[in-house]
Amino acid sequence: MTDQAMPEAGRREAPGTPEPKATSASRTTLSHIMTGSDTNLLGTVHGGVIMKLVDDAAGAVAGRHSGGPAVTASMDEMVFLEPVRVGDLVHVKAQVNWTGRSSMEVGVRVMAERWNESTPATQVGSAYLVFAAVDADGKPRPVPPVVPESERDKRRYQEAQIRRTHRLARRRAIKELREKRAAEGFED
Ligand SMILES: CC(C)(COP(=O)(O)OP(=O)(O)OC[C@H]1O[C@@H](n2cnc3c(N)ncnc32)[C@H](O)[C@@H]1OP(=O)(O)O)[C@@H](O)C(=O)NCCC(=O)NCCS
Repeated sequence: MTDQAMPEAGRREAPGTPEPKATSASRTTLSHIMTGSDTNLLGTVHGGVIMKLVDDAAGAVAGRHSGGPAVTASMDEMVFLEPVRVGDLVHVKAQVNWTGRSSMEVGVRVMAERWNESTPATQVGSAYLVFAAVDADGKPRPVPPVVPESERDKRRYQEAQIRRTHRLARRRAIKELREKRAAEGFED
């Protein structure tokens, strides 16, 4: 199931790998009040508006963790659990769940509460994004291994490894199928 050991504080990493960093060092929350310009034709908030906030918050986390520029490589399992309305104060909470050599999985939880009421926020969505840290030429560069702290961080690290394994397997399987079809003379 796992393709590498979970990093621990103080563990020696391979030469050239930046110093490990704790999950809490880059955890970030982005908050935004939804207005009329954020709505879709149904009058609720457009999914794309939420996705941009998710990408913004995750990008800030990836940049903070990696100490420089990072680009979105993929976004998956974006789930919308409840509609978001005008007047909702949306909190987008993001943290690094897992790190590879140059990539990071960022987990995002989207919460919403009425902007002028003291009722507790409810979860309205979630997503997982993979960012690649890049150098000035846009080439992948090594990232600090993330050190999960709480039991929840450790569970998220392990779950992220499962998603990583599935992403790689799916990409490989689709590539092989396309190559096989091309070799058999099928055209798209
Ligand atoms: C993401 C990008 C840097 C990857 O470059 P690449 O030459 O394919 O480099 P690699 O194959 O070495 O991939 C780098 C890392 O990203 C991961 N990665 C690349 N594509 C991925 C994808 N689609 N899903 C998940 N992970 C991915 C790789 O597994 C690798 O991780 P690792 O180093 O931790 O093992 C490149 O494809 C790119 O610049 N894409 C455009 C990004 C962009 O413009 N985003 C939107 C605006 S920010």
